[in-house]
Amino acid sequence: MTPVWKKTPKPTELIDRVTQAFRLAFGYEPTAVYSAPGRVNLLGEHIDYSGGTVLPFALPQRTYLAVTPRQDRLLRAVTAQGDAGASASSSPREIELGAIAPGAVEGWLAYVAGVPWAMAQEGLVSRDELPGADIAIDSSVPLGAGLSSSAALECSTALAFDAFAAANTGREPLSASDTGRTQLAIACIRAENEIAGANTGGMDQSISLRAHQGSVLAIDCRDFSTRPLTVDVDRAGLALLVMDTRAHHNLSDGQYAKRRAACDFTADTLGLTTLRDYFESTPTLAEAHQLVARWEEQVTAGMVDLPPQTDLPTARAALRHALTEIARVEECLALFSTAETTEQTWAQLGDLLNASHDSLRDDYRVSCDELDLAVNAARAAGALGARMTGGGFGGSAIALVSQELVPTVAEAVASAYERAGFNHPEFLLASPAASAA
Ligand code: ADP
Ligand code: GAL
Repeated sequence: MTPVWKKTPKPTELIDRVTQAFRLAFGYEPTAVYSAPGRVNLLGEHIDYSGGTVLPFALPQRTYLAVTPRQDRLLRAVTAQGDAGASASSSPREIELGAIAPGAVEGWLAYVAGVPWAMAQEGLVSRDELPGADIAIDSSVPLGAGLSSSAALECSTALAFDAFAAANTGREPLSASDTGRTQLAIACIRAENEIAGANTGGMDQSISLRAHQGSVLAIDCRDFSTRPLTVDVDRAGLALLVMDTRAHHNLSDGQYAKRRAACDFTADTLGLTTLRDYFESTPTLAEAHQLVARWEEQVTAGMVDLPPQTDLPTARAALRHALTEIARVEECLALFSTAETTEQTWAQLGDLLNASHDSLRDDYRVSCDELDLAVNAARAAGALGARMTGGGFGGSAIALVSQELVPTVAEAVASAYERAGFNHPEFLLASPAASAA
């Protein structure tokens, strides 16, 4: 079975496309184009909301916004994509800035409208500084593929409104500094949580706004401090293969929120802000397992109450995933703390990816048949390691593969899908690209 590789239009082509879409929708020229990337997460899955460190990097695939601020407070937006799985409509949707509130905006417009609302809520802009806007959207980030098209949309919108507010007040845009970008990321997280209704953590918005080209970004989600990490797969003759299962996921359907609630609740009953704080020092796998055992003893002794909707095996497994994943990231950070990498370094990274997937599949239960098949087929065809990436329940998996084996692995995965009767998967090679601009 010949694998299908995703076609990513060049940035210039997308800028032309989105400019043309703006002209068509609104009948005049846009004043600026902003863009923000999707992401892949190398390791550290479902631990951002537990204060863990995550290791994402930005993809070259980006969402582009052609914009013009308006004199009034009307927001009009048109997109070439629309909601994942639905076809786009060519007529703009619109909403008054003052009408944006939790529960008031449906579908894709929530990811746009939520941003100026959240920037005002966060005190980043005053009401008078925010004009309405005409916006056209186009993207090379696949939607609902676990590669954060939603964050790319929020973050490009944040840059646009940040620029409008800066122009109105004569101040520097927040996007000019990393501190300002962190504030914008926090507003985008609020937009997604409160207006789009997906109670996600902060990884996706942080990497989209704060990525370093050429590096993985280690983001400590206790305080969103970051440090770039060199994971030079290319120099080692390796590649990171992204396998889009084309099984669409939906993070606002309750499964994600359930998992997050279990972690938040467990931390709470331990008197902790986040599960990351359960570790006494630098997290290790041995300590992670000790802590799970200690927690279970406390539950059995009646010192910690489980919520009525959770049973002990489910809660224990969720806790074990969170704590061991937090520890796996620390192991990964240690692996890449020196400039020199050896064959063993990469073999160990592959093992960490495998262990992460197994934990997400068996303990956290956020994988699905399509993801497991991609991971298993890639491993069997010679990948050093493979795992799902992003929220799960569909979306994409990644595989660490030697460059010469890339065609073999892609072919093996495509053939396995054909045999299973799944949608054909799509592939791309990922390398760390630039942040929103
Ligand atoms: P992911 O972020 O992994 O791609 P989500 O389900 O979290 O998946 O977000 C996808 C949703 O984000 C889409 O269904 C749509 O509502 C919105 N979205 C993302 N990109 C665009 C776009 N270019 N145009 C319109 N809506 C978009
Ligand atoms: C989604 C979510 C992130 C993170 C991830 C799993 O992408 O938006 O905040 O929790 O799932 O690691």
